[in-house]
Amino acid sequence: HGLALDGGPTAGWSPWSVHDDGVLLWVRLDRAGGERPTDLPVVPPRPGPGSAVDAVYTGVGTCEPQDVVANRLDPWHGAWLHPYSFVDLRVLGTPASGAAQDEDVLAVEVSFKVSGRLVVPVRAEFSAPEPRTVVMRITDGEGAGSVVETHATPLTAAGAPRPRTAVVEAVLAVSDRRGFAVARALAPLLRPAMRATAARLWRDDLRYAERRRQLRASGRFPG
Ligand SMILES: [Fe+2]
Repeated sequence: HGLALDGGPTAGWSPWSVHDDGVLLWVRLDRAGGERPTDLPVVPPRPGPGSAVDAVYTGVGTCEPQDVVANRLDPWHGAWLHPYSFVDLRVLGTPASGAAQDEDVLAVEVSFKVSGRLVVPVRAEFSAPEPRTVVMRITDGEGAGSVVETHATPLTAAGAPRPRTAVVEAVLAVSDRRGFAVARALAPLLRPAMRATAARLWRDDLRYAERRRQLRASGRFPG
């Protein structure tokens, strides 16, 4: 592009600190972020290296990170907002009910629609390791050990009249099924389908988050 370089590592620009966690690449904004940076991003425990098929979906909504987090921590919405994907959702325990083993975990039982009448029942737990990350872990059933990590990142400054938030969601799928090793080798072919599944869900979920933010801005919604 015609940039004059002098052979040094930085030709007049200041680099940002980055961290590659193997699935996601993080950039630390330091002072520009307006918050106290952590040494490393908060990455929840994941399936062992090389054991999962991973795919990352990215979307942007006109909302704040809290609206994305609220959607992810509302387990009740799954079956009625995404009837094409989930049926028979039952919330087993919430932090408030005290029924969950860990007091900061939401536990659900849900069946995932694969195709037609074929459904796969799973048990899953939701938790938030930091304020803008929600993790869903499948604890029982098909794909136990799989993780869906949702990160909500603000793209606009606090208090912006039209806030925008990026949703970065990493799916790390594992399976005990025979043939999964073959599936792992086919990861480049599977990723578009995994991403398409996430994109379909987030089409609805971003509308949920945007509506929540609109209601809050209108003053008709507490919180
Ligand atoms: Fe959803």
